[in-house]
Amino acid sequence: MAIVELSPSAGAAPAGTLGDALAASGITELLAQLDRELVGLAPVKSRIRDIAALLLVDKLRKERGFSAGAPSLHMSFTGNPGTGKTTVAMRMAEILHRLGYVRKGHLVAVTRDDLVGQYIGHTAPKTKEILKKAMGGVLFIDEAYYLYRPENERDYGQEAIEILLQVMENNRDDLVVILAGYKDRMDRFFESNPGMSSRIAHHIDFPDYGRDELAQIADLMLQTMQYRFDEEAQRVFLDYLERRMAQPHFANARSVRNALDRARLRHASRLLGDPHATADDASLTTITAPDLLASRVFAAPAATDAAKGKSPC
Ligand SMILES: Nc1ncnc2c1ncn2[C@@H]1O[C@H](COP(=O)(O)OP(=O)(O)O)[C@@H](O)[C@H]1O
Ligand SMILES: [Mg+2]
Repeated sequence: MAIVELSPSAGAAPAGTLGDALAASGITELLAQLDRELVGLAPVKSRIRDIAALLLVDKLRKERGFSAGAPSLHMSFTGNPGTGKTTVAMRMAEILHRLGYVRKGHLVAVTRDDLVGQYIGHTAPKTKEILKKAMGGVLFIDEAYYLYRPENERDYGQEAIEILLQVMENNRDDLVVILAGYKDRMDRFFESNPGMSSRIAHHIDFPDYGRDELAQIADLMLQTMQYRFDEEAQRVFLDYLERRMAQPHFANARSVRNALDRARLRHASRLLGDPHATADDASLTTITAPDLLASRVFAAPAATDAAKGKSPC
């Protein structure tokens, strides 16, 4: 084992406390905000805290003259739709920026079609253009496995993958790539693309939310929109969630958002349907049980919709 001589460069500032460094980075507030604004996701949050800690310590090391090679931060976010992957990627971009890892901290979200051209010679310029836009921030590739189509020998996706691999290696101090998608498909993608797999330092899995977490997410969303459920609506919404979770095309927090949007429509129609209703604060902000019970989720037996392949509203 080599013993590394520790010799901070002359003239380095006197050592402060880690608490001071944390406060100066503003990272504590960002992490607290992440905790407040995102329900559940405990493993995801703790992984983000670890990454933030590493980057902060790296920064302090660099300031005091110790080597701190840019750690590889490319990631994969796997999970079902609506589990918070895109939302967390945006927060991650901010955190990386705050810690000085990337210059700008913006997020460029793309899918295969943004990277891969239809004709020969179109893919490289498309991919490079996107990479240029993402430089200094995070490139988020949703359903990344669509880049790889082994059934089509001459698929241009492979070309995009090769350009990405190069940039992920050479520009890793100024660009973080996050690949997102369903877990099983992503696993298969990594099996067939070991080069990509070896460049991903962090695999983070986003679990489905439970009923009570979904209810909490609804409360947070309502708060932000300045609405509320009355007591009965709260009970009905739990019932709604149980039914909806068992139906096809359920998409976690996204389904919650959609359900609330439709409840707001019904709430508005209900208010306008009653010419004598007063437009006071309470009536304008309170979603009541009938606004939820009118949903198709409570109507026809769930199986009928499923059999027709319809997405329930
Ligand atoms: N844990 C959570 N707490 C609060 N809101 C959430 C949470 N997870 C997701 N959301 C919200 O649900 C919606 C869908 O999330 P999104 O990040 O787009 O999911 P994904 O990218 O995994 O499909 C967004 O409006 C997001 O703000
Ligand atoms: Mg998404």
